[in-house]
Amino acid sequence: MNLLDPTRLHALHGRSLLTTHDWSTADLDTLLAVAARLEALDRSGHRLDVLRGELAYAMFFDNSTRTKSAWAGAAARLGMHPVVVDGSSTQVAHGETAEETGAMLGMNAHALGVRHDLILGEGNAFMRDVQRGIDDYLAATGDERVVPVVNLQCDVDHPTQSMADLLWLQEHFGGSVAGRRITVSWAYSPSYAKPLSVPQGVVSLLTRFGAHVTLAHPAGYDLLPEPMAWAAEGASESGGSFRVTDDMDHAFTGAEAVYPKSWGPLVMMRERVAANRAGDRVELAAIEQRALAHNAAHRDWICDERRMALTDDALYLHCLPADIGAEVSSGVMDRFRAEVAREANKKVYVVMALLAAAKVTDLATLLSGGV
Ligand code: CP
Repeated sequence: MNLLDPTRLHALHGRSLLTTHDWSTADLDTLLAVAARLEALDRSGHRLDVLRGELAYAMFFDNSTRTKSAWAGAAARLGMHPVVVDGSSTQVAHGETAEETGAMLGMNAHALGVRHDLILGEGNAFMRDVQRGIDDYLAATGDERVVPVVNLQCDVDHPTQSMADLLWLQEHFGGSVAGRRITVSWAYSPSYAKPLSVPQGVVSLLTRFGAHVTLAHPAGYDLLPEPMAWAAEGASESGGSFRVTDDMDHAFTGAEAVYPKSWGPLVMMRERVAANRAGDRVELAAIEQRALAHNAAHRDWICDERRMALTDDALYLHCLPADIGAEVSSGVMDRFRAEVAREANKKVYVVMALLAAAKVTDLATLLSGGV
């Protein structure tokens, strides 16, 4: 099957990515093939700057190193002008609605990235409202620009991360994750109560591609019900499997890839919602302290040499930044330092693929050898 067939490429034209669950597996496959092809062209020095003079605007309501740089790197390679702003410095902080924000940014931009990941129930809904604001503005003014919205991490999913992880795993396993035993595990972190969206995104994506996915976490660290249901459905449709355990050793035994990372206790992530709505910073800080105290009861959830020895010579993955000495031992991180950097570098090509597939009308020509 030619994944870069013009009909398949055309199906991605104009598309935003707000969760991978919104996209068919066939379309995700095409996007992965576009990303792999763009990576090969970029690494061999081909010019790909077909979107010269266009503005790639991104708003971040949370910290980021890798995703900001992937957005800017992808836009620059395509000839776009990347701009990354702190979302809290926009008028959203003064009550501007997401639709208004979308309309105002979409008026000038040619693509919009958003990170809004800290509060359950808010980030993905914000992005959908922003997209509606842009689309309504473009329709009302007869503006034919295509302005895709790209989720750069929300409360539900981190799709450019999970797609980068899948691209990296496919490369590692020689083309496919089907039949591979992959463990996504909670790991201890003292630094902050991290969002749930990375494990949610990874388990709900890999199960759709035939992987045997094990999710491990201590009691109280459940993920949201919706992505858990997506993972179960994905596994049953793809011939993969999905199981959940509270035993990290059991989850590591025989795994061919392990993805141990921290996330916050679900009950406290939910408590944040009301405190955030009330603007109660004292309560938000108290919830954070309770979450970290909860984490500290599980210091033994670390990816170390002993646990790696239980695996089937597993590849170690992490979205980064990792808490070294807590989520992962320094020895394991040292051993996989180059691999996690290569994993992170896939994101620039996933973002590039999203922007190019949404916006370049003759994508097949671009993919056949650049400009
Ligand atoms: N993994 C990831 O999204 O990294 P940043 O938070 O640095 O963007």
